Amino acid sequence: MQNILKNGTSKVTAGLKPFDKPIYITRPLLPNLKEVTEKLEEVWASGWLTNNGPQHMALEKALQSKLGVPYLSLFNNGTIGLIVACQCLRLSGEVITTPFTFPATPHVLAWNNIKPIFCDIDPITMNIDASKIESLITPQTTAILAVHVFGTPCDTMGIHNIADRYGLRVIYDAAHAFAVEVDGIGIGNFGDISMMSFHATKVFHTAEGGALVFKDANLKDRIDFLKNFGIKNEEEVVMPGINGKMNEIQAILGLVNLNYIDEEIKKRKSLVAAYQHFLKDVDGITFLTTPPSAKSNYQYFVIRVDSRVFGCSRDFIYEKFKEYNIFTRKYFFPLCSDYPCYRHITSAAPSNLPVANKVARDVLCMPLYGDLTINDIERICNILKAFRQ
Ligand SMILES: Cc1ncc(COP(=O)(O)O)c(C=O)c1O
Repeated sequence: MQNILKNGTSKVTAGLKPFDKPIYITRPLLPNLKEVTEKLEEVWASGWLTNNGPQHMALEKALQSKLGVPYLSLFNNGTIGLIVACQCLRLSGEVITTPFTFPATPHVLAWNNIKPIFCDIDPITMNIDASKIESLITPQTTAILAVHVFGTPCDTMGIHNIADRYGLRVIYDAAHAFAVEVDGIGIGNFGDISMMSFHATKVFHTAEGGALVFKDANLKDRIDFLKNFGIKNEEEVVMPGINGKMNEIQAILGLVNLNYIDEEIKKRKSLVAAYQHFLKDVDGITFLTTPPSAKSNYQYFVIRVDSRVFGCSRDFIYEKFKEYNIFTRKYFFPLCSDYPCYRHITSAAPSNLPVANKVARDVLCMPLYGDLTINDIERICNILKAFRQ
């Protein structure tokens, strides 16, 4: 309290000015417009806008190689991809998942008439705690839907051990994990199917978009029928599919962004190193780090606030940052288990999810995108440090 001046401004913040322009949690990677327009001209010349056009086919091939996965199907967004993944594996009954995620994860289960069963998370990785899955399995359980939250790989070994013992399918929501690797293996090689999101907020994007990646060749046709109304050919509709197709304009954005993705990840890596440097000795602030076995994509920079040590809460910091034109996000608060549509489920009770409830109160996602500078990061960190009480 002693650093608050009479007029209410802090001594330290007194010299710190708000940013002239808003600093958001992220900004989409906008590639060279000329490269985009050149490709648009190709599309205009072909007159082919959607339904497995040449740009779509080229992106599918390029991503398969970039992600090191045997099979890949593009989608108009990741959520429809996940809905199709559940349909493809014929999941039903109950699926064990995490409450610490974006709403899409449990919602795709609800859209498949499946009951989400919430499992608590690991306090360090913030991913589903594999050691707590087994006690949630019932005769109705058909799968585990795990999320590589913030791009940190799940305990895949722990998850697969349980899945194999109980004959469960495994789907990974890898929305945050584009190009992440574990021991040199692309993250999409784990589980039965993984979903990647190419939403504009993601490190690699197609404005809206996504993909399912998988190893089993037998799934390819089924997934591609399911995302195209179940149409097999002009005279056969073989299943009740949906419209999940990515169009040619989205595919162009993806193809051009692929030329810039390595550079974007490199820039983010140095910005994350700067955050870690400027915040390393701040009592009460810790940050999520990448395990040594993993290669990160630097999708997010996530801090955790211990309010008793730091002197003010995560919520205070989130609000106070706005005065400096800095817009952070409380990902993932509230927990999915607290949504009105899920909180009646027994596993959603806060007493069953103590770690997730604590983490959801402590985490804050800081601004991170390639166009930020090290100076911006230093300013953001100095402003944060000045909030200490
Ligand atoms: C963890 C997670 N799952 C699913 C999605 C949904 O992906 P999409 O926006 O591509 O539908 C998102 C966010 O966009 C996400 O963060």
